[in-house]
Amino acid sequence: MRPNCYVVVPAAGSGKRMGAAVPKQYLTLAGKPVLQHTLERLLAVEEIRHVMVALAADDGRWLQLPAASHPRILTTVGGAERADSVLAGLHALEEIAQDQDWVLVHDAARPCLKPDDVIRLLGHLMDDPVGGILALPSVDTLKQVEGDAILGTLDRTTVWRALTPQMFRYRLLRDALEQALKAGQVITDESNALEYAGYRPRIVEGSPDNIKITRPEDLPLAEFYLGQRS
Ligand code: CTP
Ligand code: MG
Repeated sequence: MRPNCYVVVPAAGSGKRMGAAVPKQYLTLAGKPVLQHTLERLLAVEEIRHVMVALAADDGRWLQLPAASHPRILTTVGGAERADSVLAGLHALEEIAQDQDWVLVHDAARPCLKPDDVIRLLGHLMDDPVGGILALPSVDTLKQVEGDAILGTLDRTTVWRALTPQMFRYRLLRDALEQALKAGQVITDESNALEYAGYRPRIVEGSPDNIKITRPEDLPLAEFYLGQRS
């Protein structure tokens, strides 16, 4: 039997670096809230059974999103750090996800995701025992620095930029995140937790327009990418 696919969307951040009046996932971009764009991109992939959205405990905006009433969308309450929100989403899937099912974790703040990239990720990893991530090769020459002094040049071919979705077997990811958090590790993405547990997740090349909206200057860029597709 083919494993089922679920998505966890961490959407419980407050967007400090954006410095806007509302968390960045609720800023309007090309006529819709960022989170609505993100969820529409994910729902366009039919292989995905349910999308579990982890919201801030004091979120008062969610119910205004059209996606809030979509039958494939579920919600839970996130936590203090991104990894806590992801783990909360995984726990909320406990009743429906089997150990070997796939979970894709995708940032709410990446609304320019191409459904085709998700389909390619699924295609590459479906038979893998562990999973992997969308990532981008480095285009610039990379320098190793200390303070403002360059110590050397890194081999560009060995360094990739991690994007989301990151796709792992449900049970492996949940156990790896729990253990890493219990050990006090700072976990910046899901792959990081699997690496800490001794696994070697795979990379699948993604698209440069799958940006994470972080600072105000990212908004016009995201709007441009979204406009190119509609
Ligand atoms: N996130 C979350 N729970 C947290 C922190 C972050 O679900 N406690 C989510 C954010 O909503 C975002 C994604 O994780 O979709 C990536 O995090 P980031 O870009 O850092 O968003 P924020 O934490 O909101 O932004 P900042 O770090 O600038 O405060
Ligand atoms: Mg953050």
